[in-house]
Amino acid sequence: MTYAVRASSYCYRLGEYTVTYISRRLCLKGAVGGAVTIAGQSAAASCFDFLWTDEGPFFPSDAQILDISDLTRRHPDGPIANGNIIHVGGKIFGPECKPLSGVSVVVWQADNNGQYKTARSNNDSQLDPNFLYFGRVKTSAEGVYKFTTIMPQPYVYEGLHRARHIHFELIHPDFGRITSEMYFAGRKDDARREIDEVWQSRNTRLRQNLISNVLSRKDRVSDGVAFPVDNMPAYRFDLRICPAR
Ligand SMILES: [Fe+2]
Repeated sequence: MTYAVRASSYCYRLGEYTVTYISRRLCLKGAVGGAVTIAGQSAAASCFDFLWTDEGPFFPSDAQILDISDLTRRHPDGPIANGNIIHVGGKIFGPECKPLSGVSVVVWQADNNGQYKTARSNNDSQLDPNFLYFGRVKTSAEGVYKFTTIMPQPYVYEGLHRARHIHFELIHPDFGRITSEMYFAGRKDDARREIDEVWQSRNTRLRQNLISNVLSRKDRVSDGVAFPVDNMPAYRFDLRICPAR
């Protein structure tokens, strides 16, 4: 299978912010909600176009990324990071909606103060010593990934208002690296996106596909994705990668 990956430059701060990122674009489809049948299985996914996004200014170096799925503490018995703990997970699909195993899923995000752990600091708050900021897992044979983290907070960087989001990068020999991001539904987040110029600059037809689904307790174990049934909110966010058209 040939994946179309081509270099493209993207200016994060349209017309003002001078750092230009060299990223790669390919056909990335998303699956949020709906239902399809995959090889006889019901999948909580429908395959429609997803939105490729840039890495942004806070992309971590590979050395910063650890193979961890729980970003909320440094040690199993250690103190917990500030903020509201959430579960994030879903499935990564390939062409024809087949789950993709062995995909490295990297996440990076702001902490409870809207701060990233990078040299390019976006506000004056102290870093949270208990929060890990980055995580990486590989998808299972069923294409499943899961993280436990804290709800990122909105932030302002270089005058840009950013709604709450988590950055994703998917890495696999078949397609290299591709980048996307996940947002949250809700009245406050909907209002924040209205003043988020990066969000507003996204493709208007596709950007709603970047919003994750918050799961009810009864939906936490479905379609081969099992979230802990605890008091922490769980968000489902699936991605489908497809050959370029
Ligand atoms: Fe961000």
